[in-house]
Amino acid sequence: MIADVTIRPMNIDDLPGVFHLGEELFTLHQYPTLYRTWDEYEVLSFYSTDPEFCLVATRQDNIVGFCLGTIIDKRNSPRKYGYLVWFGIDDSFQRTGLGTRIFGQFKNILEEHGVTMMLVDTSADNEKALTFFKNQGFSSPRDHVYLSLRMGKN
Ligand SMILES: CC(C)(COP(=O)(O)OP(=O)(O)OC[C@H]1O[C@@H](n2cnc3c(N)ncnc32)[C@H](O)[C@@H]1OP(=O)(O)O)[C@@H](O)C(=O)NCCC(=O)NCCS
Repeated sequence: MIADVTIRPMNIDDLPGVFHLGEELFTLHQYPTLYRTWDEYEVLSFYSTDPEFCLVATRQDNIVGFCLGTIIDKRNSPRKYGYLVWFGIDDSFQRTGLGTRIFGQFKNILEEHGVTMMLVDTSADNEKALTFFKNQGFSSPRDHVYLSLRMGKN
């Protein structure tokens, strides 16, 4: 099954498939982040600004995985950072090595663009992702605590 999965750059016809797969994977319950929400604008935004860092995995014209990323150039930093923002594999294809394959291609693309450090973030209780990224050589996970201040009268 995994053998006939193709990994390629995302194209405009992939937008709905990527969006719907993300809807299944990044539910508010599972991945509550304050600063990013999975929605159609998010997919469109990455595709229109960073198409070279958007990859999809397809099988028989169905999207079964994707990654969306970007490059961050920090002023006064000699490093060029790659940032893997959204990364997901269809449930029925998880743990088959597909994530490793897409990640490998994404990493190669970043290297071709001169990136020397990659960043990812995920919730502290996302054991799958943490194990995956540690196995890919990521180190130093740090806990982030979000505090919120209610503004206005409502
Ligand atoms: C994280 C994710 C992309 C990994 O994709 P995947 O295709 O399942 O990964 P692989 O099959 O290549 O797994 C590689 C390694 O990751 C680790 N891993 C993957 N899934 C795991 C799980 N459910 N439990 C523990 N370790 C896991 C294992 O070390 C695995 O190697 P092994 O199978 O030889 O033990 C996938 O689980 C996913 O889509 N999760 C939901 C979305 C998400 O959390 N995205 C990341 C944050 S944006």
